[in-house]
Amino acid sequence: PRILILGAPGAGKGTQSAKITDHFDIEHITTGDALRANKGIDISHLGLEYDTPGEYMDAGELVPDEVVNEIVDEALSQADGFVLDGYPRNLEQAEELESMTKLDLVLMLDVSEDELVHRLTGRRLDPETGDIYHVEYNPPEDDEVEERLVQRDDDTEETVKERLRVYRENTEPVIDHYEDAGALERVDGEQAPEQVWEDVRETIETTT
Ligand code: AP5
Ligand code: ZN
Repeated sequence: PRILILGAPGAGKGTQSAKITDHFDIEHITTGDALRANKGIDISHLGLEYDTPGEYMDAGELVPDEVVNEIVDEALSQADGFVLDGYPRNLEQAEELESMTKLDLVLMLDVSEDELVHRLTGRRLDPETGDIYHVEYNPPEDDEVEERLVQRDDDTEETVKERLRVYRENTEPVIDHYEDAGALERVDGEQAPEQVWEDVRETIETTT
């Protein structure tokens, strides 16, 4: 299936995408990870505010559409089934996506704002495997893993606030767009990860 997963920063897109790609054996296309791997590339030729993607990301702002559209276009052209995570984040990107592929399902993870802040500031990543943890909700069992965990550069309280503002301003209209088209399937993302996964799996199985 070709799935789009939507949700605010910290809603659990990465966590659920890992389960989806495992279970349905499809690709995970994530603009956040792709951009983090290319934080330092020179985009000064665009003549915009910053010269690298990383500067936008650390400020909590959106990386310019030109850069992101190209990443997604390239990844989609190589994938059969996929879960797309982190894109589109504004209406221009949503329009661009429509010219690139046809989706089978648009999933929205609903989570309240207080919970989002708590999730993001407590998030930790395993730099070796890419696995996502949380200091309270999902700590690693292995001490060795725990010792090597890192925090994402944009998970500071200040940047989290800006990311949530950018989400409300630019990405909520995208949610409304899919909702108006009658194409949105909502899942309660505030439940425990395993319960969210059950609902996600059931929604995918019944709609694709
Ligand atoms: P991106 O990496 O996409 O970040 P985001 O959208 O802010 O989302 P996150 O990755 O922070 O959250 P998530 O929903 O994946 O949650 P997770 O599963 O990790 O983008 C980063 C930046 O890149 C952007 O700010 C922008 O600068 C740039 N960018 C990316 N795409 C772009 C685009 N299209 N256009 C322009 N710029 C772009 O979970 C979070 C935490 O919660 C974890 O600790 C996890 O363990 C925990 N958790 C998860 N589920 C649960 C649960 N059910 N219960 C309790 N805890 C849970
Ligand atoms: Zn993510």
